[in-house]
Amino acid sequence: MGAVERVEVGTASRRYGVVIGAGVLGALGAAVREAVASARLAHVFGDEGLPPETVRDVLASLAGAGLEAASSGVRPSEDGKSLQSAYAMLQAVAARGLERGDLVVALGGGITGDMAGFVAATYRRGVAWVNVPTTLLAMVDASVGGKTGVNLRVGGAAGLAGELQKNMVGAFWQPSLVVADVAVLGSLGERAFRAGLAECLKHAMLSAPFGDPELGAWTKGSLARVLERDAGTLVELVARNVRLKAAVVGGDEREESPDAAAGRALLNLGHTFGHAMETIPGVSPTPDRSTAPLQHGEAVALGLVCAARCAELMRLVGDGLADEVRRTLGHAGLPTVAHGLPGSDEVLERMRHDKKSAGGKLRLVLPCGPGVCRVVAAPGDEIVKAAVDAVRG
Ligand code: GLY
Repeated sequence: MGAVERVEVGTASRRYGVVIGAGVLGALGAAVREAVASARLAHVFGDEGLPPETVRDVLASLAGAGLEAASSGVRPSEDGKSLQSAYAMLQAVAARGLERGDLVVALGGGITGDMAGFVAATYRRGVAWVNVPTTLLAMVDASVGGKTGVNLRVGGAAGLAGELQKNMVGAFWQPSLVVADVAVLGSLGERAFRAGLAECLKHAMLSAPFGDPELGAWTKGSLARVLERDAGTLVELVARNVRLKAAVVGGDEREESPDAAAGRALLNLGHTFGHAMETIPGVSPTPDRSTAPLQHGEAVALGLVCAARCAELMRLVGDGLADEVRRTLGHAGLPTVAHGLPGSDEVLERMRHDKKSAGGKLRLVLPCGPGVCRVVAAPGDEIVKAAVDAVRG
């Protein structure tokens, strides 16, 4: 095993460690035992797309540490990330007889983690959970900070499905431990791997006030080794991004800070644009429409271009930032144009439904300097629509 990094996350509700390394899953059971000493039963929710041996190894490691461990599969899709699925998962842990001192383990990407965390937050009003992210996106973002939840379909009439509102139901419920084994990234598909880099590039655009002003330069300089999936570089990439996220959420666990330049809301950079595009059926990252829908990280990448263009139009930054963002995303193999976008009015309307809106007014996170962003309330509609047009394919 190479270098192992441990990052401490300290939030108002809980402190926990994030263990990052290549091959660290082998020691999962012992780490879980130490983090959740009360547990007798462990229920693993494993992403159905994972190699079966990954689930088997996790169960064996938990059993080796004296836990009675069993698993059930999670099919990760935005449509399946629903209260109905969470209900079935709650039934599974209830059928196992998990008690307050027992433990849920999330083994998978962001969707699996959000749903298993939500089950942990609500079963018996809250049991411990351990997050074992298996995608780059989940390792650098979703696994840290305790956001858990499911999507909600709202509206819909005469047999129409209604609009999918992402993460509209949920809870802040911090895990007791996160174990990120970069060795599992070896089996992650290329598209999903690159999508994870979008969250790293997002972090780089806001890292200066959080103790890592060099994150952008380091990430750009390391991209070739990251794309080769060099284990040591991946450990450093994940550790730096987790440290950055820990610094942000440590200061504002529930995203309540009124400080427009320092709170957790900054992590929504690119997300209000991105979420809107991600939920429009048929929008694709390439001219080949079979690549629709956008993956979350791809939507974030497009959102970063929109945010940079919006900041240019509002004169928060000089011209040139949107092109610089496009170039970096291009080197990472991420999309910079969206194909099949409807009119910008429709995208704007979807953005207004974002759960970060206040009083129906948009609140956007926009770059305002190297490595620095701020929350901007109610930017003009015409500017936002022009920013959306910056990614029209
Ligand atoms: N992914 C944004 C957050 O955790 O706040």
